[in-house]
Amino acid sequence: MSFLAEKNIFISPEDKALQEVYINSIKNSLSGQTKYAMVETYGCQQNVNDSQRIEGMLLEMGFTLTDDREKADVIIFNTCAIRENAHERVYGNLGALKHVKARKPSLIIGICGCMVQQPQIAKRVKSKYRHVDLIFGTHVLWKFPPLLSEVMEHRERVIDISGDGVICEGTPVNYDGGAKAFVSVMYGCNNFCSYCIVPYVRGRERSRMEEDILSEIDMLAKSGVKEVMLLGQNVNSYGKDRGEENGFANLLKKVCLIDGIERIRFMSSHPKDISEELLRVMAEEEKICKSLHLPLQSGSSKVLSDMNRHYDREKYMGIVKKAKELMPDLSLTTDIIVGFPTETDKDFGDTLSILREVGFDSIFSFIYSPREGTKAAEWENVSTKEEIDKRFRTLLDQQNEISYKLNLRHEGNVEKVLVEGQSKTDPDMMTGRNYANKIVNFKGDESLVGQIIDVKITKAQTWILYGELK
Ligand code: 5AD
Ligand code: SF4
Repeated sequence: MSFLAEKNIFISPEDKALQEVYINSIKNSLSGQTKYAMVETYGCQQNVNDSQRIEGMLLEMGFTLTDDREKADVIIFNTCAIRENAHERVYGNLGALKHVKARKPSLIIGICGCMVQQPQIAKRVKSKYRHVDLIFGTHVLWKFPPLLSEVMEHRERVIDISGDGVICEGTPVNYDGGAKAFVSVMYGCNNFCSYCIVPYVRGRERSRMEEDILSEIDMLAKSGVKEVMLLGQNVNSYGKDRGEENGFANLLKKVCLIDGIERIRFMSSHPKDISEELLRVMAEEEKICKSLHLPLQSGSSKVLSDMNRHYDREKYMGIVKKAKELMPDLSLTTDIIVGFPTETDKDFGDTLSILREVGFDSIFSFIYSPREGTKAAEWENVSTKEEIDKRFRTLLDQQNEISYKLNLRHEGNVEKVLVEGQSKTDPDMMTGRNYANKIVNFKGDESLVGQIIDVKITKAQTWILYGELK
């Protein structure tokens, strides 16, 4: 474990010891009993990765994991705050647990993550959902064992949304045992885009030490992982909090040297910070998938300025041009917000036109959701809900056409596919992902799961490619 006392970024040895003490004390108290725990995750990959840590700690404490709410003795909701509908889903599910707890009063219900890191939400959960026993924020994930122990021993409600985000290395992680894994390389965000709650709930950027990341990936490779997705709100600023330049490009080069890792992906990259060096490393290193998620948000330079994104349409197009020159097969994906308060029909037209110009393989599109405490939440929206809904439908229709056309370019190719398992939509087919992270369905058998194999793409649809084994 790394510890930089002067920077105070990492958990202190005393706190780390505390985590272990409580893991062991719960383990002792449970010995001989079978107790079930479940973690329900909302939101992004970062949350999935945090939930794997919570599950890792639960397993070390001696719990057995389950997906069945009725069976569980401990239920933890790991929540998301990015849009209002994420909140609403959690409130709905918390409400539903009231009856479960009424039947089984010993049940412990916890809620953590970005939603409850907002003090007004923690307060609301505390007053309106009295059956919730434990509320803890994003900065004290490492403290989960002592907090849970307090609930178990005293049967009192425990709330902790304190702290400003220390990195805790060495927390047990429950990787799912598949051939793919998420690895967080940094936490937090410094960008304060005017619509976004993340910097408020995740704190400032903190980068893990290179040696910790590399040893985690090496361990994953030894356990059979072939593909890693490196995660951060803005991976391009990896290492900048320690004054390093090109930290992420250098990290990538080192990850490429790890035996057993065959594919590397990363997200997200803020366009204002992406360097030519990073694009070169991507182009040169065979293991790095030629697939880039570059959140655009809007095609209008005026809206981008209001969003505090620090790039305009021209700068974004410049990056795309450079990236495509270096990687002709590059697959691009992006995030788009529709209905930002200052967006007019003309601005939206700029978004439609840039999407045609760039040719994104797919987009993640969101209707703007005001987040309390952010700058944009104070602004009146210049558009009506009907106008925004119409824009959203237009966006999806246009993108479906583009995605389909771009998918046709795969037809006839022989592509490497990491096999995931049986297709959910068609049990006669196996399914996997190509370099662009696109779903590829093909006839094959279970023995191929976890392998990277050659598949000839025979047919493209908007969301799925079909192929046959080479
Ligand atoms: N409303 C709608 N979408 C949002 N995003 C972030 N904040 C909001 C918001 N308030 C989107 C952005 C970001 C993605 C992860 O979520 O597009 O890139
Ligand atoms: Fe939010 Fe902007 Fe940070 Fe992304 S870069 S997490 S959109 S503030």
